[in-house]
Amino acid sequence: MRILVAYASRYGSTAGIAERIAEKLNAEGFDAQAKPVKEARDLAGYDGFVIGSAVYIGSWMKEATDFVRRNRVQLSTKPAWLFSSGPLGAKATDAQGRDLRTVAVPKEIAEFAFLNAKEHRVFFGALDRSKLTGMHRLMNLMPAAKELLGEGDFRDWSEVESWAEGIARQLVGVPVGRE
Ligand SMILES: Cc1cc2nc3c(=O)[nH]c(=O)nc-3n(C[C@H](O)[C@H](O)[C@H](O)COP(=O)(O)O)c2cc1C
Repeated sequence: MRILVAYASRYGSTAGIAERIAEKLNAEGFDAQAKPVKEARDLAGYDGFVIGSAVYIGSWMKEATDFVRRNRVQLSTKPAWLFSSGPLGAKATDAQGRDLRTVAVPKEIAEFAFLNAKEHRVFFGALDRSKLTGMHRLMNLMPAAKELLGEGDFRDWSEVESWAEGIARQLVGVPVGRE
């Protein structure tokens, strides 16, 4: 059973999550490939989709949103899961006591209801300030940035792996083959 793990990642941490999901699915006996959305082709050849993006200023990266919109018909005919990689820091809540995973849900997820995705999961992300480029580099200089953007790698690999295991369990019994 072929599964596409398609992702958008500006600095590589979301790519790492996508690759770990694909590795786990492969270890569970599936034929999973992690690919940047820009390189994902021939979607008819897949039996399921995991689609993820880094979150910037409350949104998925444009290339990921465009990928979902452009391929809405094909993506919605197969089981699909969504993930976002965003929150930073060791705390689960923000200064107002709100759950960071809830706050981080990008605005596009409501629009993607047409996919009938089995789940949307928010994972903590990673940030290396020295890697920031363009507008992000400028934003990092703003006084609020230090407080809002915690530096470090906050990805929880055991959570990513158990999410992938859950996907593997749900995929058992899904029909295989091209439409
Ligand atoms: C300028 C900037 C804005 C960000 N905005 C958000 C945001 O609105 N919500 C969020 O959860 N994370 C936000 N983040 C954190 C990133 O989503 C996080 O660092 C993510 O892991 C980056 O993924 P990538 O390495 O795949 O690009 C922001 C990071 C930067 C540098």
